[in-house]
Amino acid sequence: MHQDIKKILFTEEDIRKRCAELGEEISDAYRNTNHELLFVSILKGSIPFFAELIKHVDIDVYYDFIAARSYDGTESVGNIKIVKDLDCSVVDHDIILVEDIIDTGLTIKEIKKLLYLKGAHDVKVAALLNKQDRRVNDIQADFLGFEIPNEFVVGFGLDYNQKYRNLPYIGVLKEEKY
Ligand code: IMP
Repeated sequence: MHQDIKKILFTEEDIRKRCAELGEEISDAYRNTNHELLFVSILKGSIPFFAELIKHVDIDVYYDFIAARSYDGTESVGNIKIVKDLDCSVVDHDIILVEDIIDTGLTIKEIKKLLYLKGAHDVKVAALLNKQDRRVNDIQADFLGFEIPNEFVVGFGLDYNQKYRNLPYIGVLKEEKY
């Protein structure tokens, strides 16, 4: 275990198993849709989760990436800015927005609003982690990996100032590190 990590919450194997279940759930939910299914993965944190999840989806899908600036250190910023927009059209598509963690819910709420403004037919959210205690709005994940307590976690894509994204597990960062 990395020396800056206090404890491991979910191992690589825990995450792989949960992604397999979520992939099956998503496939079943969209098997009979009349709309194209587009995964929109939010850079950068969701990449390892998205890569694991998509392997377990057994229906035809498309995918694209969006990047929003939301976090500087450990504090959330209310007004998010799109720093990398989608390459493809979302008009009339069913969208699954893929996020590493829902904390205050501000990022997801804004991106969801944007996708509807761009003409999406439906937008659902798949999140690896949820911190319900910190929520400031009514946003919920439609497909959720794990509920976690209000602690700062890193690994499997999640960072602290761009560090620790490469850890293969999700762990709680030692307080003295932030
Ligand atoms: P929200 O807009 O407050 O829901 O923030 C979502 C974003 O905050 C996530 O995509 C993460 O980048 C970041 N974030 C929130 N909590 C944590 C955490 O515990 N560790 C690392 N990043 C976090």
